[in-house]
Amino acid sequence: MGHGGNIYEIQRKYNIEKNKLIDFSSNINPLGLPKTLKKIIMSRMDDLEAYPDIHYYQLKTAISKYYSLDIDNIFVGNGAAQVIYDIIHGIKPKDAIVLAPTFSEYERALNSSGSNIIHYYLKEEDDFQLIPEDFIKIIDDSIDLIVLCNPNNPTSKLINIKTMESILEKAKKHKTFVMIDEAFMDFVKSEEDYSMLKMYRDYNNLIIVRAFTKFYAIPGLRLGFGITCNKDILNRINNTSLPWSLNTFAGYFGEVLLTEDEYVDKTHKWLEEEKARFVAKLKEIRGIKVYEPAVNFILIKIIKDNIDVDILKEEFLKESILIRDCSNFKGLDKKFFRIAIKAPSLNDGFIKVLKKIIQNN
Ligand SMILES: Cc1ncc(COP(=O)(O)O)c(C=O)c1O
Repeated sequence: MGHGGNIYEIQRKYNIEKNKLIDFSSNINPLGLPKTLKKIIMSRMDDLEAYPDIHYYQLKTAISKYYSLDIDNIFVGNGAAQVIYDIIHGIKPKDAIVLAPTFSEYERALNSSGSNIIHYYLKEEDDFQLIPEDFIKIIDDSIDLIVLCNPNNPTSKLINIKTMESILEKAKKHKTFVMIDEAFMDFVKSEEDYSMLKMYRDYNNLIIVRAFTKFYAIPGLRLGFGITCNKDILNRINNTSLPWSLNTFAGYFGEVLLTEDEYVDKTHKWLEEEKARFVAKLKEIRGIKVYEPAVNFILIKIIKDNIDVDILKEEFLKESILIRDCSNFKGLDKKFFRIAIKAPSLNDGFIKVLKKIIQNN
């Protein structure tokens, strides 16, 4: 399983102390845990002695209020990863279209469901943007499911609503489901131009995945949700998913969601300012190509001949910095890596080390 953020393995292998490793491979909000969540966890430890609400009613009520969704259309999961697996196992597609490069768990979930995967390659010369006319051409009666990641990991590129609608319309004609993973969508300030959440009732073939993991910096809590107006899919998922799959504290997350407006504003402010500043500084460095990011992570290509990602990763680790080697993403190779956007001082430190490595190799 190749993911970013495998700090445990790296710390063991390179003998780096736990708090010394600076993890640029994991795209988590640097503002850290929201205050309300810390308070809940510290003050309600004793609640672990009871089972969580099997229906997660409070959590779903909060999600439905926050995002204006119908509570009966929401299903929750132990991270967006479980939501993705539940959807794919609920649909059991014979043939599915998946982007390349994209988040690897779609393919693993599809493999575990016995599906045949058709890749749509995002091209370097198109800046890894999906080309609507090309994509729509490959949808036909044989396709049971289309998986889209918006914004896409690792390219940090967005698909707009107009394109999504044209894909959904074509898919509807061919009785094809469309699963859109919006795990990073909360980072997009103009979310209304890209998220399909407000239109989920218009398409019976649409299922949307959302994660709280990245935006609220809670990869250890494990919490995500899915939404669809398709009753058949909802029944299939509700009848097969594990009971009590969320822990007690994840079940309380609704309280965080409804009270952390300041955290949301602060995050958008940090990202807007720091993304522009960090990207501009990176673009000044010769020897790399920076793909303009839509959200809080950046895909970069090494264009200097004698350096590849193995060398770069090793050199960064000497400075206790971890980057995401992207060579195991389909459609990318040993020249690509991904980094998260962090606090300004850490980003400046990263730039310094990157310049040094490029100069010395
Ligand atoms: C695009 C995308 N979707 C889903 C996930 C999984 O999120 P979670 O940690 O909530 O399971 C990730 C994790 O990296 C991701 O990048």
